[in-house]
Amino acid sequence: MVMESKPDSRRLVDVAWLNEQIKGTLFEGRLTAFNTVGSTNDVARRLARQGAPEGTLILAEHQTQGRGRFRRAWASPPFSGLWFSLLLRPHLQGDRLGLVSQTVAVAVADVLNVKVGVAARLKWPNDILVEGKKICGILCETAFSAETGEYLIAGIGLNINQTPGMFPDDLKQKSTSLRILKGAVISREQLLVNILQAVERYYRIFLQQRYGTISAKWESYAQHLGQHFRVHEADSVFDGAISSVDDFGRLLLRLPGGQLRATQSTNLEAVK
Ligand code: BTN
Repeated sequence: MVMESKPDSRRLVDVAWLNEQIKGTLFEGRLTAFNTVGSTNDVARRLARQGAPEGTLILAEHQTQGRGRFRRAWASPPFSGLWFSLLLRPHLQGDRLGLVSQTVAVAVADVLNVKVGVAARLKWPNDILVEGKKICGILCETAFSAETGEYLIAGIGLNINQTPGMFPDDLKQKSTSLRILKGAVISREQLLVNILQAVERYYRIFLQQRYGTISAKWESYAQHLGQHFRVHEADSVFDGAISSVDDFGRLLLRLPGGQLRATQSTNLEAVK
């Protein structure tokens, strides 16, 4: 049984203020804020199945069952981060949905670089690192319902005000927060506004099919651009240098012969 509080926006964000800041975006008037949920992705999925519109935004102060890729636990303590999920319904072939998750990653990285002033880098498939440590994870889940068609839920977890001691032992060396990097407590409300505005901007670019703009941004923020990796796919292995992402959100690697090869594999091993 997942614990879920009643929607309650009082603590984390002033909804009227937020709506004013994001006026005219997909997300205006679409926020539901909770103190505690299991996972904001699960709440968003439930609402999506019931026909919730694109732009639905679920925010929680605390997640008891926050999760990352491969169903790994995602630590989501109260008062320390932004844990939220966005519902998108891009009316596209399923194979384009991979690029939506890169679009969201580029938007968050842009805010961290341009507005916050930290050197945020993208690590395939969907991590954001600063100084080599993870600051943000994005979990994109797609689903189909006969009534409402295909949809995508982008779950974003951004570490903001944790101190080093607040991370679980196994993550202490690998994780960071904006407070650790900037030496100051950061306003989560303002960051949320900046991220929603940036997602709106890049998502419009995606809908206009200006895929090259997204991949160029991805490249400009790529943590391992030009570095060599061995890629393990289900039935093959190949070596290449990280180059970009393609129009389907797959990773592009430059092969020793000069051609580009796309992969969806996340099983990559650095080669010297
Ligand atoms: C990862 O790095 O593996 C992805 C982590 C994604 C965490 C966010 S927090 C909000 C949303 N709800 C979840 O349960 N997960 C995502």
